Amino acid sequence: MRLFIRRALEKLDKLDSRQIHRLIVDLATENERMEAVLQSMTDGIMVTDGENRITLYNKAAERYMPFSHDGDPYEKKVWTVIADREIADFVRTTLESQETATDREFTLSAGGEMRVLSCSVMPLVRGGSIQGNLFHIEEVTEKRAKEARLRRAESLASLTTLAAGVAHEIKNPLGSMGIHIQLIKKGMAGKSLVEAGSVLKHLDIITEEVERLNKIVVDFLFAVRPMDMELRSADLNAVVRDFLDFVRVELEEAGIGIREELEEDLPALNLDEKFVKQAALNLVKNAISAMPGGGTLTVSTFRRGDAVKLSVADTGVGIPRQILDKIFEPYFTTRDFGSGLGLTIVYKIVKEHRGDIAVDSREGKGTTVTISFPVPQKDRQLLSYEGKNP
Ligand SMILES: Nc1ncnc2c1ncn2[C@@H]1O[C@H](COP(=O)(O)OP(=O)(O)O)[C@@H](O)[C@H]1O
Ligand SMILES: [Mg+2]
Repeated sequence: MRLFIRRALEKLDKLDSRQIHRLIVDLATENERMEAVLQSMTDGIMVTDGENRITLYNKAAERYMPFSHDGDPYEKKVWTVIADREIADFVRTTLESQETATDREFTLSAGGEMRVLSCSVMPLVRGGSIQGNLFHIEEVTEKRAKEARLRRAESLASLTTLAAGVAHEIKNPLGSMGIHIQLIKKGMAGKSLVEAGSVLKHLDIITEEVERLNKIVVDFLFAVRPMDMELRSADLNAVVRDFLDFVRVELEEAGIGIREELEEDLPALNLDEKFVKQAALNLVKNAISAMPGGGTLTVSTFRRGDAVKLSVADTGVGIPRQILDKIFEPYFTTRDFGSGLGLTIVYKIVKEHRGDIAVDSREGKGTTVTISFPVPQKDRQLLSYEGKNP
């Protein structure tokens, strides 16, 4: 409350009619100013009372939310006023569970156009108890489109690297096939009959090279295939447990013990379970190859600030420092039968989750790969409408 209003209210019974008149005019002016500020905001603002009825909203809120237009929006529960079913359901569950929601996104199609809205709900606290809620609605269509363009540009850049990699990869088998065809021709020159064995030897090699080429192309297609990610709210620990059950036997057979260090009560993350498991599988495969004589695989999850991390640590051969910055490059491999795409794919999956990846390795000791996922901002924020005003 503004100081001049509070002061006037404190001595209200001592005011004469002229002073009361003055106070009302001041209040009206103040109110108009607030109203003007509220209405000129591009973000939507809406306030509800303890009974979840709308007590205040601005034009932007009405424009974004679409209100259903039967009757006075002030008299009903807020979720019955919002026309969009999905938003209405979200508002209802959030309010009924007395939760806070930050930046929950909704896609609406209005007049053939897609709009992405970001909604936040924060409780208004007065005297230690919740006295209603504040809604903040922001349009993020352009912001999201920009991010998607950036990600596409990023993946286009890696596509160029991939294509260069493929060109490089197919040169060797093609060269080798050329040589063996030449050798067959040479062996046949001037002869009407040749010994089958001498030709077969070359044909075997040519067949092997064709298989190699095929694998390169298949792997390439896998690496460049757009990932149809569907990020959904999920429990990382549940995904990890499920995944570990899947690889347990293979690890046991390789003489590798599993240590699970999963922190409880992690916040839900936006994940595509299938792809997270694919990434974990690639990391575990690398760990298995790094521990030919067995060892220990430690899988941990934990929270650090705004991120939840998943780390896969092995007690294997480690990665020499000089190749550490190459391992994510497409086709980089030190293994005889490696594709060199395992970590490239992991990187791509992590980026699609707006996450990050870090590698810590000591030669002869082991390697730890850590993926961090952003925590969707959903923590409790309490907002007070008292106290701060002069
Ligand atoms: N856990 C690990 N321990 C040791 N070296 C690793 C590990 N993970 C990856 N590397 C190194 O990174 C390279 C690239 O890995 P990756 O992209 O999965 O391809 P690939 O497994 O087909 O070689 C591997 O060849 C290996 O040299
Ligand atoms: Mg690999």
